[in-house]
Amino acid sequence: MKFLEFKHDVAAAQLVARIYDTPPLAFVHSFGCQQNVNDGERIKGVLTDIGYGLCDKPDDADLILFNTCAVREHAEQRVFGNVGALKALKEKKPGLIIGLCGCMANQQHIVDKLRKSYPYVDLVFGVDGIDTLPQLLVQKLAGQKKRILMDPAQRPVIVENIPIRRESEFRAWLPIMYGCDNFCTYCIVPYVRGREKSRKSADILAEFKGLVAAGYKEITLLGQNVNSYGKGLEEEIDFSDLLKLLCTVPGDYHIRFMTSHPKDASRKLIDTIAAEPRLCKHIHLPVQCGSDRLLAEMNRRYTVQQYLDLIEYARKTIPDVTFSSDIIVGFPGETEEDFAATLRLIEQVGYMQLFTFIYSKREGTKAALMPDPTTRKEKTDRMERLLKTQERIAMEKVTQQVGQTVRVLVEGYGRSEGSISGRLDNNLTVEFKADPLLIGEYARVRLTGTRATVLLGELCRC
Ligand code: 5AD
Ligand code: SF4
Repeated sequence: MKFLEFKHDVAAAQLVARIYDTPPLAFVHSFGCQQNVNDGERIKGVLTDIGYGLCDKPDDADLILFNTCAVREHAEQRVFGNVGALKALKEKKPGLIIGLCGCMANQQHIVDKLRKSYPYVDLVFGVDGIDTLPQLLVQKLAGQKKRILMDPAQRPVIVENIPIRRESEFRAWLPIMYGCDNFCTYCIVPYVRGREKSRKSADILAEFKGLVAAGYKEITLLGQNVNSYGKGLEEEIDFSDLLKLLCTVPGDYHIRFMTSHPKDASRKLIDTIAAEPRLCKHIHLPVQCGSDRLLAEMNRRYTVQQYLDLIEYARKTIPDVTFSSDIIVGFPGETEEDFAATLRLIEQVGYMQLFTFIYSKREGTKAALMPDPTTRKEKTDRMERLLKTQERIAMEKVTQQVGQTVRVLVEGYGRSEGSISGRLDNNLTVEFKADPLLIGEYARVRLTGTRATVLLGELCRC
């Protein structure tokens, strides 16, 4: 693994200044997960570093970039829909540069399709190419190449200090590792984001300190599998050690992290969460399904019992710990029995939140080759039953919170007039009437009631 430093590209900045009378505008839209959103923030950082301004309407843009997601087919279709809609704009405005990057751009069949059927797409580069964007734009703007469609390639490098334009002034994403080595059989991520690579702890700490100094209150550590942080580094460090190191930074903030693979979530990690007040007592622990047979088919490498043992240990060790999870419905060969086991599991754990997905076949994964006789109708029926069950569980969980006084980070406006909305440690939202000046600050709130799965409260003057 090579570690590189990003350098300001003087030549690119000069070229942009020479070509455009006023700063050109870029519209950057990210689809998909937080990792992608964070990549989008860096893309914006790199563009502003060479003189672009940012805009929020494609019509105003000189450069349009879609930072794409490949995890489910629906996300891909949306991107193609969006790209297709730009054809007319490009005809009206021939100087417009249209680009596509992110996970879809790391699939050869997508690049081939763009090459063949989308002649007005000028620029394609993958997830590892953000730091190369200034040079790609130079080639395009200087007319050296008409189209630049990079073939998917994984670079065994980590580029530090890429400029960033963060979307929030109080909540930040902080990647600690990239890629995934797990090869769950349904998942495209290891193919598009490549092998796991961890950032050095000193680089993470430096970025973390910068965020705390800039007043960030919530810092979410990101990785496809944060629990395997440290693998392959020269230093001897694991994820729990990293958390402890970050918690030594003085300041008023809290830390979240995602995603934890249950097979690697250690007791040491649970003990660390219990011991460090700045770590949220909420764990996102995707189980995917509740059937041992399907878990094996998915290559998840844990059993339902092992998962439940971990949950039980966390409950014993961390008072008031809460959980959320991802569930896939309709994995190839899922029977009614398998699905019933999933329903039983979610009842047993009592998740605060579930992120639920109908299985989506991804070309190139092992599951794509498995027989999948279940009809779409059966799958959507199961999804409805799952959602109904979870809704009831979540309502019970939310109602149990009423009466407590909690500290929340105020995130924005609420739905009802004059209210603002904050997030609890356990990821639930509470709405209460108070001055919007509190947005971005911590507040103490007494929980007085509920509206569906949203809590209602009163600002505490205590
Ligand atoms: N189909 C449906 N859901 C998927 N996920 C990943 N791959 C697929 C797929 N092919 C879900 C998993 C994962 C979450 C980020 O996306 O539940 O945890
Ligand atoms: Fe995909 Fe599994 Fe890796 Fe998560 S752990 S990114 S589901 S392969």
